[in-house]
Amino acid sequence: MTHKIILDTDPGIDDAMAIFFAFQHPDIEVLGLTTVYGNIPVAMAARNALTLCDVAGRQDIPVTKGVAMPWVGPESEYAHFVHGDDGFGNINYPPSTRELDSRDSAQFIVDKARQHPGEITLVAIGPLGNIAMALRLEPDLPKLVKGISIMGGAAFVPGNVTPVAEANIWNDAHAADIVFSADWEVKMFGLDVTLFAPTDPEFVNILAAKNPTLGGFVQQASQFYIDFYSQNRDEKVCFFHDAFPLAQLVAPELFEFTRGNIRISTDDLNRGQTIVAPPGTTASPLWTEAPFVQAATGVKHDELFQLFIDTYAL
Ligand code: RIB
Ligand code: CA
Repeated sequence: MTHKIILDTDPGIDDAMAIFFAFQHPDIEVLGLTTVYGNIPVAMAARNALTLCDVAGRQDIPVTKGVAMPWVGPESEYAHFVHGDDGFGNINYPPSTRELDSRDSAQFIVDKARQHPGEITLVAIGPLGNIAMALRLEPDLPKLVKGISIMGGAAFVPGNVTPVAEANIWNDAHAADIVFSADWEVKMFGLDVTLFAPTDPEFVNILAAKNPTLGGFVQQASQFYIDFYSQNRDEKVCFFHDAFPLAQLVAPELFEFTRGNIRISTDDLNRGQTIVAPPGTTASPLWTEAPFVQAATGVKHDELFQLFIDTYAL
């Protein structure tokens, strides 16, 4: 089965690895890369998405630029300390000369959903402002797409930006609240699975050996990212968060989910917390009347990384 997807992204080093996985996998058809601010400003995210298409020889894939700011509050502080000044670990890859699609990311998402009703899976691996904006442009979006999967949140584990919040949700908590509250059941691939599936730096060396072009890019760009994640650790480690929702599309048997009602905190102290209550765990209407989410809470680590390696090797 071929999965038509739109990949909403803030590339970003783990975004890059995920995007190449999607380009490589025969059962995934990427209709477009819609970019959003998050790891880096949105203009850089858009340029970086064009670069990734160039590296992969996929200049056929449209790239759009989307929201530059959180739904509420000041401009993001970005995560150059994780992804480098250029978003790719300071490898300073030559910029693309290709033009962006003239549409804003949200409009592109709505146009494609209307063009392919019921066929597209939205995969969001950055903050959720474009998805929220698309819901405002087209309130029937949930009826027009096949589904939505996101990398983000932390259902039953601590956050990575604050003790309670994961970066993508923390970066735009109000947009996330709009997205989770819409009339669909989001598949949420949060830190519950991505932080509990570390990989050692040898993984990127294997990707480079299997695929010198795409794996080689990931290997080069990841050194800065690996150094960030390896601080205060005895051994070097790396986390490729963003590839998890894509892997689940083509290998659902590798994942387990916990279904529950979800609330998103938007107050200052708990901003970006994704609070999930499985059925029967509370009688509070604040949760029992809230939307449902499918939170990924289990993953077969070894099989997952073998899937990444096998897909890069194709
Ligand atoms: O918390 C990890 C997420 O935040 C990933 O999507 C990473 O790219 C950053 O955007
Ligand atoms: Ca990302």
